[in-house]
Amino acid sequence: MKLFIMKNYDEMSRKASDIIKEYINTKPNLVLGLATGSTPEGTYEILKKEANFKEVITFNLDEYIGISENHPLSYHFYMYKNLFNHVDINKKNIHIPSSKGDIEKNSKDYDFSIYKKGGIDLQLLGLGENAHIGFNEPGSPEDGSTGSVQLTNSTINANSRFFESKSQVPTKAISMGIGTIMKAKSILLIASGLKKAQAVKNMIEGNIDINVPASFLQKHSNVNIVIDEDAASFLKKK
Ligand code: F6R
Repeated sequence: MKLFIMKNYDEMSRKASDIIKEYINTKPNLVLGLATGSTPEGTYEILKKEANFKEVITFNLDEYIGISENHPLSYHFYMYKNLFNHVDINKKNIHIPSSKGDIEKNSKDYDFSIYKKGGIDLQLLGLGENAHIGFNEPGSPEDGSTGSVQLTNSTINANSRFFESKSQVPTKAISMGIGTIMKAKSILLIASGLKKAQAVKNMIEGNIDINVPASFLQKHSNVNIVIDEDAASFLKKK
């Protein structure tokens, strides 16, 4: 794991976007895994202005089950609003897990389309307060493929900040599995703020533990972790 501790959120976003841009410059038809949430918003803001998505192929990590794709809080909506509507990406190269219809079939098809594109070259990840990656909550298997997942109370609470009330937060999602994520050739995880400090510490300095999903990344041979000083505040070694 290669760790970059940046001064603040803006510098974290700058560093993350520079890494992504470098990958795209080296391989214009990069297969790029994408995340949603608050953390990557700054990174997307920079990529919108500076990156060339003409040939890039994207695969998002996850989508809620129970709200439609055009719901303003769906991850489909988020991606178009924060990135896809502003870049020159070919719409046929955009992949986001579908929570419409047969989830099991959609999940298998999703993993197969990643495989057909030659696998993910670079996967961008955020980090849950409970150390989830994608929507793989504590207890998720290391070799899990894409599928339907039950969100934990901690995640529902964290995500309720976007909804009018906690009862409106979907309780299920379709997510790439940890196995799917671990197959990516390289990984870029970003995290910001004190709320993530314990998860960051457990991910980097703790034991590999099924209850700390991000700790499985210790086994991956090419991981860049870009965090701000607040998120790094519990780390012993800096
Ligand atoms: C989103 C995702 C999640 C988030 C995580 C952190 O696609 O897969 O793992 O990255 O919940 O969310 P934020 O960035 O909102 O703190």
